[in-house]
Amino acid sequence: MRVIAKKVKPATLTSARPQVIDSCREATQLVNQARVAGKVVGLVPTMGALHEGHLSLVRAATEVCDYVVVSIFVNPTQFGPSEDLSQYPRTLSDDLEALSNYNVDLVFHPQENEIYPADFTTFVTAPKVGDDLEGKSRPGHFRGVATIVLQLFQILPTDLAFFGCKDYQQCLVIRDMVRDLHVSTEVRSCPIIREADGLAMSSRNRYLSASERKTALLISKGLERAAECFAAGERDPRVLENEVRQTLAEGPIDRVDYVAVRCAKTLRPLTEVATSAVVLVAAYVGSTRLIDNRQLRRESESGLT
Ligand code: PAJ
Repeated sequence: MRVIAKKVKPATLTSARPQVIDSCREATQLVNQARVAGKVVGLVPTMGALHEGHLSLVRAATEVCDYVVVSIFVNPTQFGPSEDLSQYPRTLSDDLEALSNYNVDLVFHPQENEIYPADFTTFVTAPKVGDDLEGKSRPGHFRGVATIVLQLFQILPTDLAFFGCKDYQQCLVIRDMVRDLHVSTEVRSCPIIREADGLAMSSRNRYLSASERKTALLISKGLERAAECFAAGERDPRVLENEVRQTLAEGPIDRVDYVAVRCAKTLRPLTEVATSAVVLVAAYVGSTRLIDNRQLRRESESGLT
């Protein structure tokens, strides 16, 4: 077994732009070269429009890896036909600028026709943990996520890959896919980064008007409320879910896709929260669909992060 331990690399801030590669073959070569040189190699997969949430993953990667790759690719197969693929922000120049403040070695920014050439027909069926919640609200979403992430793991065979708990179910989908398909990349999950007022950072927050942004705060407020009730001893998932729903009802939330208290490891429904759980929310504020979650656990319990 390969022991994953970073070599010495001072965690200095850089201001050098990372190398940007769009060719899959060249990217594979660079990753393999780094690994042959004995470096611990890490990957941060993104769709760009980078914010502090993404950058926290980059920071986590630079802390434990000698060679860090960030991929930027707006993956069309994870968007439904009525979703925001064409509007999705593409801000490569700003993203490279942001990454130049970190020790990032390589940015992989492939062309769509290299990832999905005209004769592409192979897709990954997402694991069962992806069936409900996001899987139900966004049919085909996790099939697209699993397919691109497995492709990225093949093109960029890194030791480690970093994902954010902001997309809690996505983390579990990737965890199970990696286990089931014997992928050798080790997956690390990192905490949700929030704005000072609690709003979970998201590339989609830029779609919100000032008043919508205020309304959006009810989501993190609702999760906070559930955490308070859990801390006060409430163990009934329906009561905890109701607390969130009542908070959401304080403002003009346009549609609530789900509020769910689930087993933190399997996302199965619970009759009672014994030791740990996760509360997940998906809701529309105006036409922007936002997701957020919060882990509920006793002090002694470990969670995804
Ligand atoms: P994207 O939405 O760009 O997110 C890239 C990574 O950043 C994901 O792991 C996501 O969970 C993490 N992230 C986003 N907001 C965060 C926040 N506020 N705090 C912590 N981490 C945050 O997720 C995707 O892209 C795609 O599905 C991808 C995995 C790249 C496959 O296309």
